[in-house]
Amino acid sequence: MLTAFDYIMNLLNLGCGKRFHKDWTNLDFRSDNRDVIEHNLLNGIPFKDNSFDVVYHSHVLEHFARKDAVRLIQECFRVLKPYGILRLAVPDLEMIAKEYLHNLERAINNEPCAEFDYDWILLEMYDQTVRNTSGGEIANYLFRKDIPNEEYLFNRIGDEGKNLHKNYLNSLNNKFDKQINPVPFSIKIQAKRLYQRVKNVLTRTIFRTEYEVLREESEALQIGRFRLSGEVHQHMYDRYSLGKLLSGCGFINIKVVSSVESDIIDWNVYQLDSLDGNTLKPDSLFVEAIK
Ligand SMILES: C[S@@+](CC[C@H](N)C(=O)[O-])C[C@H]1O[C@@H](n2cnc3c(N)ncnc32)[C@H](O)[C@@H]1O
Repeated sequence: MLTAFDYIMNLLNLGCGKRFHKDWTNLDFRSDNRDVIEHNLLNGIPFKDNSFDVVYHSHVLEHFARKDAVRLIQECFRVLKPYGILRLAVPDLEMIAKEYLHNLERAINNEPCAEFDYDWILLEMYDQTVRNTSGGEIANYLFRKDIPNEEYLFNRIGDEGKNLHKNYLNSLNNKFDKQINPVPFSIKIQAKRLYQRVKNVLTRTIFRTEYEVLREESEALQIGRFRLSGEVHQHMYDRYSLGKLLSGCGFINIKVVSSVESDIIDWNVYQLDSLDGNTLKPDSLFVEAIK
């Protein structure tokens, strides 16, 4: 006979990227891993009502336009069992805004390193929203040999950022030119090939002005495809706006937690928000709520 302790939790990780655990149902746009279901969350969550004990997503909600974000949270509510837990992490707009004001003041007062910290926090705030190519300016900042404010930077973006930088330095040694995100890169390649093919035909057959129009069209297609790829931020949240969004969709007991605090049984075993007690994305606002 099964006891309460034998109960197997049904756990769902949405927009998991490369951070997932085999005991969970993991889902993302696309993945080359068999443990991840490929699905576009703009089409809803592909599971029945009341089917999960826990729904989790980290750094996903901000990639949805506001109306789509409401729909996503409503979908989380629908697939959760009664009293199920929603846990989510987003970049913390309040923390970033405070940090921006602090760095601005320090930069104006010519404090040591302040100009670099100021540059970084502006990137954190805007780059992920306005970029038109994968990685954007943040990648340029991270992927160079010497980062002038390394300590500040890695305090902000944690071990994940530190590892990206380390891998970049290793790739320099190995003389490999690695891409951080192959998906938008392949879109870029496809657009470039299309552009090249059309260019060849056009330069042979029709006027230069028409070729120029096509070049612009191809560039617009490339940017549009990238912006729909799920990499850019469409909105940002603080504890007030996120709380309002969750309560508006029916959630109760909404609370801000740390990366290691949770009502999810054995949360830290899954190593989704922390590794050996270290927060993986320190710029996050972590929230839990109950259906
Ligand atoms: C910043 S990454 C976060 C990945 C992971 N959750 C983490 O915390 O490291 C955002 C993830 O959301 C996924 N994503 C964005 N929009 C999506 C959509 N409409 N459907 C499915 N996944 C989406 C992206 O593919 C990407 O893996």
